[in-house]
Amino acid sequence: IDYLKTGASHVGSLDDLREFIGDCKRCKLSHGRSNLVFGEGSPEAGLVFVGEGPGREEDLAGRPFVGEAGRLLSKIIKAMGLTREEVYICNVVKCRPPNNRDPEGDEIEACTPFLEKQLSLIRPEVICTLGRVAAQCLLGEGFKITRGRGHWHSFMDTPLMPTYHPAYLLRNPSEKRQVWEDVQKIMQHMGLEANKDE
Ligand code: URA
Repeated sequence: IDYLKTGASHVGSLDDLREFIGDCKRCKLSHGRSNLVFGEGSPEAGLVFVGEGPGREEDLAGRPFVGEAGRLLSKIIKAMGLTREEVYICNVVKCRPPNNRDPEGDEIEACTPFLEKQLSLIRPEVICTLGRVAAQCLLGEGFKITRGRGHWHSFMDTPLMPTYHPAYLLRNPSEKRQVWEDVQKIMQHMGLEANKDE
């Protein structure tokens, strides 16, 4: 399963990794996608956000978090005193699940080596997972989002802060306060000052 350990020693950068993934047909999500959504941002990012998988707008654009949830994520990033260009944004699965269903086990298993490679190439100071699926992918199936969010965990020796998914915040705006508390922990860890412009 770990195709990155076999025959991919030339994958030394994010660009190499994107090339290695190619026109991917490793799982059934390839059948319904318009574009593979690899991820974007700085290869030297101190902070990586990990979502679940592309939605409709991301699939059409080939870019992560460009729909309504993405606009909310952009606001969160700005409030943290950062820009989308300074961080890195990606997903557990790189192709859109039909009708935005949760990605299935075999799909997550096929795509996770790429997420792990992205993280090991970037080596960020902090990983922030958005929602249950991303947290369970990196921390294990036993992870419970309501209990585990807002607490420091670790993945590959990198501090990991799980928080709610911005799409969940769109449905439950009163939970925004919790996410702001979670991201403030990240800011404190990274020595970031809040952007009070808005
Ligand atoms: N939701 C996600 O989890 N990822 C995206 O890229 C967009 C919406």
